[in-house]
Amino acid sequence: MHRRDLLRAAALFPAAAWLPRVGTAAARGADVPLPRHFSDDEAYWAEIRRQFLIADGIFMNTGTWGALPVPVLEALEAHMRAFETVFHQTPFDVHALRAQLATLVGAPPETLAFTRNTTEGMNVVARGLDFQPGDEILLTTQEHVGGRCCWELVAARHGLVLRQFPPPVPAPSEDALFEAWTSQVGPRTRVLSIQHVFFSTGAIQPVQRLAAWARERGIITVVDGAHPPGMLAVDIQSLGCDFYASSPHKWLLAPKGSGFLYIGPDWIDRLWPLIASGGWDELALKGDRFDHVGTRNDSLLVGFQASVGFHNAIGTARVERRCRGLATRLDAGLRAQPGVRVVSPAAPEVRSAMVSFQVDGVTGADVVQRLWKMGPVRVRLVGENNLGYVRLSTHVYNTPDEVDRVVGMIGEIASAAK
Ligand SMILES: Cc1ncc(COP(=O)(O)O)c(C=O)c1O
Repeated sequence: MHRRDLLRAAALFPAAAWLPRVGTAAARGADVPLPRHFSDDEAYWAEIRRQFLIADGIFMNTGTWGALPVPVLEALEAHMRAFETVFHQTPFDVHALRAQLATLVGAPPETLAFTRNTTEGMNVVARGLDFQPGDEILLTTQEHVGGRCCWELVAARHGLVLRQFPPPVPAPSEDALFEAWTSQVGPRTRVLSIQHVFFSTGAIQPVQRLAAWARERGIITVVDGAHPPGMLAVDIQSLGCDFYASSPHKWLLAPKGSGFLYIGPDWIDRLWPLIASGGWDELALKGDRFDHVGTRNDSLLVGFQASVGFHNAIGTARVERRCRGLATRLDAGLRAQPGVRVVSPAAPEVRSAMVSFQVDGVTGADVVQRLWKMGPVRVRLVGENNLGYVRLSTHVYNTPDEVDRVVGMIGEIASAAK
């Protein structure tokens, strides 16, 4: 085990530095066993898996929401208990969390604001920019409602044009995705609204190239980054986009209601806040200006901080290797099943930890139901725009054995349909 890993692991529970030592919840938190194996072997991952509350079945829907590690749940619970103990209301240092998150996602702390989720972050951006009638917003036909409806609203209100184009599916390469975007840009295009990772197929988009290309032409890039933090290494500054909205409650395994928004340095003093409260016009506050949204639940932020600690204790590179490694196994297994058509990219650099597929002669909804009955396996139907894909997500709590079992079940469903 490397010294850095040891330090990270040690940082997990002495997170107890911020845990108020009251009641049984905190005590239970300190009892949760730390991983003792530190190589990438299955024994290590089995210890990681034991940090979760896993009952029956196979959970492969992290793309919708992740499972909370027990230490995160304990931290949240302990803070809430302390806070609600009359007169013990424990303050929470939001700036410490901002700094930790900034390191994790590669952004200056003052460019980050806390939101509830990606939907809120995307709305803060769309509602906070100034537009002229006829300005065009470019996006694909495979956007999630959480990244699309904010544009529909401002388009309806301010006479903007939403231009949607079908992305290549399966995405053959980064180049193909880049060309799909750039060939659609017109003289009135003001914004590219780009999913970093498609919710529908898991394809990873070339955000860095697109942002650089757009910047040269004075076009704003708004990234719907619901998925990458906690799944892939993310360095927002080097991506060079103007805005990045995310939902750490998915892959970063933070409590539901944890979100963040990156507001690039060109915009931090110019974007109109969606919610105005004290300090809304104090530009010196930077990202904080967008956090004055009234009373909020600090216990969620404590949990968010614990999830950053949990992630760092494993290490971003190792998390990414595991999540994507399991997805590669899943992808290969599915491709070997007659009657199964994978719609996620075959190219490893474009494939994330979400794999989507269709089964010949069986609707996506039926596949989802059958998996639920057979497993139960919890997956996501991508029913939007009648796509009818079935999406599987692989995270650190999944195992190679689960992947193989799910592939076997899908093979059975496909062969029964012949
Ligand atoms: C690409 C994408 N954008 C936005 C969202 C909305 O996320 P949230 O509900 O956390 O706002 C999702 C949710 O699954 C998503 O996959």
